[in-house]
Amino acid sequence: MSETTTTNGRIAEVMPQLNKVNSEGHVRYGKMLIDGEWVDAADGRTFNAIYPGTGKAIAKVAFAGNEDVDRAVTAARAAFEVGDYAKMNGADRGKLLWRIADLMEGHIDELAELETLNNGKPLLESRWVDLPQSINCFRYYAGWAGKVSGQTIEPDMNVNAFAYTLREPIGVCGQIIPWNFPIQMATWKIAPAIACGNTVVIKPAEQAPLSILRLGELMLEAGMPKGVVNIVTGDGPTTGAIIVEHPDVDKVAFTGSVEVGKLIMQNAAKSLKKVTLELGGKSPNVVFADANLEFAAKVALSGIFFNQGQMCAAGSRIMIEEAARDEFMEVLSARAAKMVVGDPLNPKTRMGSLVSQEQMNRVFRYIEKGKDEGANLLVGGERVGEDGYFVTPTVFDGVKNTMTIAQEEIFGPVASVIAFNDVDEAAAIANDSRYGLASGVWTNDLKKAHLFAKKIKAGTVWVNTYNMVDNALPFGGYKESGFGRELGQASLDAYTQLKTVWVDLN
Ligand code: NAI
Ligand code: MG
Repeated sequence: MSETTTTNGRIAEVMPQLNKVNSEGHVRYGKMLIDGEWVDAADGRTFNAIYPGTGKAIAKVAFAGNEDVDRAVTAARAAFEVGDYAKMNGADRGKLLWRIADLMEGHIDELAELETLNNGKPLLESRWVDLPQSINCFRYYAGWAGKVSGQTIEPDMNVNAFAYTLREPIGVCGQIIPWNFPIQMATWKIAPAIACGNTVVIKPAEQAPLSILRLGELMLEAGMPKGVVNIVTGDGPTTGAIIVEHPDVDKVAFTGSVEVGKLIMQNAAKSLKKVTLELGGKSPNVVFADANLEFAAKVALSGIFFNQGQMCAAGSRIMIEEAARDEFMEVLSARAAKMVVGDPLNPKTRMGSLVSQEQMNRVFRYIEKGKDEGANLLVGGERVGEDGYFVTPTVFDGVKNTMTIAQEEIFGPVASVIAFNDVDEAAAIANDSRYGLASGVWTNDLKKAHLFAKKIKAGTVWVNTYNMVDNALPFGGYKESGFGRELGQASLDAYTQLKTVWVDLN
């Protein structure tokens, strides 16, 4: 722990909480988890973890290079092939996952605080949304462990044979995590991987590794055998790329930008790793005139402003039927103007800080672009304060779908409102995107809702709601939003492979 001395009042507020975590001997800042041990990087390199609410460094984190990743992969391989974990059956892996969930629950406040400290999101979200969802995710996959099995299949040929399939783990899984929902994204990948009997080398995002490191400690406390989950910290082009190129990693699961997703697919091809990609989005949230406009406006705002808009599924294109436009915009802009950003650690705050200076700069570049291209800046568009990366909720009206702010993922609190005239035009605009992660449709006409759900090219369609995510339901993208599904039974496919066994009976 270092670089914590500052005269800034806010950091003084933050520090006692971090010290509390430290003095209990919890997170070993500066170390990472390899083969069941907390270790420094082989070359001693570290980088700073930042509290986005102040922009100040709050901890040192180890920076993993070739040697460290190699040790992690070797440990994961050994754990997969021999030792306690390799011998453990599914039911016991289920108990292990359940114990992790119990320990997370017992430390929920501390984990939520760490998440907010390193990400800048409101405590309200980390404590009441991200953590509970993650805990339940471990329990959901605890239920699947030991229940993932093959089939007996009658051969089609006229042969005297008995045939069956085994559903087996893939092996060593490299998992690359983004910063927007660190603990949740780590959980979505670790839990199904372990349920299916794989081992893991996980790399948190360099912006927000702390909660995942703490999770690593809880996993050890839960009895996770050494080498099963290894946490290597570092940046993408170094640590991430080394994992992707490592010849002994069997699969890579990635959540992040389209740009890096494409790069990962290319690099993984060298050793033909299995790849699943959950990438960005520019999701349309389509409001028809017959919808409950007041409720639609309220949910549309949380659909874009939750987590400061740093969400792959953000409903960043709010589409409104022309006939209801004035009424809808009145509610939407009034409510948006009332939303305030505040101290992420205050339990009442609803909007916190963006994750980094880089992300904030990126958001402002898009806001300028929106103005330049002729969209009407209705609400927001400003920075709040000089410490941290706080941006007011921003709404652009009169957006054309061809504009940059309707085509590119901004990943910040910026809503682009687009008007349409009828169902066909709405579907055409909604689908005119390289992305296809999620979508929303608001109508009280049942037929219209189902027909529209069929027309939309996206991995999720929310009808009269938005941003609902459930551990039992698959989540993932169409088009350039990626492939493979996380959560639900679908994720079991992503972490297993099928083996066919023939037995001659002659
Ligand atoms: P990114 O895609 O660069 O980072 C995501 C993860 O990938 C991080 O752990 C990073 O270290 C790693 N990574 C980066 N380059 C890598 C490489 N060459 N090989 C292996 N791993 C690599 O995303 P970034 O730069 O943090 O954010 C840029 C934009 O990406 C955001 O503005 C947003 O549009 C999008 N994004 C989308 C996310 C989603 O949930 N789908 C999450 C994070 C970012
Ligand atoms: Mg990047």
